[in-house]
Amino acid sequence: MKFYEPAEDSLILLKWVEKLSKGRVLDMGTGSGIQAMGASKKADEVIAVDINPDAVKASKEWIKEKDIKNVKVMLSDLFSNVEGKFDVIIFNAPYLPEDEEVKDTDTMGRETTLKFLREANNYLNKNGFILLVVSSHTNMDDVARAGKKFKIEILEKATLFFEELYVLKLTND
Ligand SMILES: C[S@@+](CC[C@H](N)C(=O)[O-])C[C@H]1O[C@@H](n2cnc3c(N)ncnc32)[C@H](O)[C@@H]1O
Repeated sequence: MKFYEPAEDSLILLKWVEKLSKGRVLDMGTGSGIQAMGASKKADEVIAVDINPDAVKASKEWIKEKDIKNVKVMLSDLFSNVEGKFDVIIFNAPYLPEDEEVKDTDTMGRETTLKFLREANNYLNKNGFILLVVSSHTNMDDVARAGKKFKIEILEKATLFFEELYVLKLTND
């Protein structure tokens, strides 16, 4: 099974997820399920989705092992299988351009982030917000353009070995 194992970016986001989760939460691109599990401590219900069937299988197993009852995991390409609206949407987004050598949904597809931003508003409750991690590999002007419906606040900027990471909070304007 191949899926994104929790890394430094995951842990940076997890801190905010544990602090801010509430109500109904969507964990987009759940990978191992780490954010969904963090959110489950404060949220009523968490829907966790991933495009990678291995990630869906692995996160389901981990969540079952931990006996967490309020998380449901599903296969979905962004919002394709997602229904209803959410108070919080989490996305530790892939960051490499799609033409990059790495043919790997874990990291490949910064275009996915932009598509996510263009669609996310339809799935957000009033007073809801998005917690999004973006890398300096992603062009911030593109992020601002795709997320123009939102007020964007930088919660944290972390400098890693080969990139900077931004944890963004996007709220309905
Ligand atoms: C950087 S990893 C983050 C994994 C996990 N949320 C974490 O914080 O460790 C990005 C995840 O997004 C998923 N992903 C990529 N494209 C997607 C898409 N179109 N729809 C849903 N998930 C996607 C990948 O399979 C991967 O699990």
